[in-house]
Amino acid sequence: MHRRLSSPIVSPVRQADRDRIEEYALKVWKYKEGEVVSMAIHLGDRLGLYRAMAGGGRFSPAGLAGLTGLNERWLREWLLCQAAAGLVTRTADGTFSLEPEGEQVLVEDHSLDFAAGVFIGGYPPGQMDVIAESFRTGLGISYDQMGDRVARQIDRMHLGWLGGYLVDTVLPCLDGVVEKLEAGAMAADVGCGGAISVATLAERFPASTVVGYEPSSPAAARARRRLDGLPNASIIQAVGEDLPADGRFDLILTMDCMHDMPFPDRVAAAIRRALKHDGVWLIKDIRCSEDFEQNRKNPVLAMQYGFSLGSCLSSGTSVEGGAALGSLGFTPAVAESMAGEAGFTSFRVFELEDDPVHFYYEARP
Ligand SMILES: C[S@@+](CC[C@H](N)C(=O)[O-])C[C@H]1O[C@@H](n2cnc3c(N)ncnc32)[C@H](O)[C@@H]1O
Repeated sequence: MHRRLSSPIVSPVRQADRDRIEEYALKVWKYKEGEVVSMAIHLGDRLGLYRAMAGGGRFSPAGLAGLTGLNERWLREWLLCQAAAGLVTRTADGTFSLEPEGEQVLVEDHSLDFAAGVFIGGYPPGQMDVIAESFRTGLGISYDQMGDRVARQIDRMHLGWLGGYLVDTVLPCLDGVVEKLEAGAMAADVGCGGAISVATLAERFPASTVVGYEPSSPAAARARRRLDGLPNASIIQAVGEDLPADGRFDLILTMDCMHDMPFPDRVAAAIRRALKHDGVWLIKDIRCSEDFEQNRKNPVLAMQYGFSLGSCLSSGTSVEGGAALGSLGFTPAVAESMAGEAGFTSFRVFELEDDPVHFYYEARP
């Protein structure tokens, strides 16, 4: 008898092992623990508790209540949760402190180590309904439809990468780009979100003009607020496909967004048309490979796939026929072939030691 291709492959003998059930159940419960501790991290960030604990002080719940004006009983529960999670240290006298490493990861929001910004308090039920529906239809939603909550999360998550790190570490890897920006160049950031990098470039290179392109209304609104008062920076609410096709830009950035685009190939072609003949396209995207086993080196791989379900794959399938790359779909091979098809003749991948999360690519016409 022939097995139908779609039928599941069933092993003949299957007996669950009691010890392994317990191990497996613990693994599952640890994810639930992660979810609720995430909520507590969000509260610590939102209520300014980590910031209040910064600087090495030791706090009783009453002491922290005195400093923050918040309720002592609720703070005690939060502090015990943080201590149980290993995020703050509890001393035998019942006081709690935030170690300097905790301060770096949970308070210093301009640092590449900062992580608290990603904890936005879980997915609201409405969004879970949307994600579940995507499994039926194959269609996701755009960042515009995801709303300001997600725009804010991305903004806070990426602050470290798009500020000083971009100008001091990444741009100097590109031959001649810093010199051009210093002399006065035209730059664009496509899919710029809240325009952190637009503001950074405009401030650091006052002789240059920097334009952000961003289709999502909540992100574009954030961008407008951020760029207010910067004479050499502006934001256009548009998709990358709508870049001017007149070769005006010296530098175009796409930061963490090619994998989110429904039609990244069309945007790559538009970028080629918008660049000068000696212009540069700088791409930052998630470090990944076609090989799942290779990707397992990423210590938070499951989280990356989870983000994909929540936003990246959703955005990439928000238009019928979208590329559906997902968080880990813009691999070096995909990037190189897309750049080649768009008319770029020079392509380089570079890895930066202090950024294990991303690959950077430089493409030139
Ligand atoms: C993960 S966010 C990254 C934002 C920003 N570059 C950063 O690094 O914080 C991805 C962005 O790509 C934008 N995007 C999606 N499709 C796009 C398209 N076709 N053209 C331009 N931007 C697009 C989304 O609106 C979203 O703001």
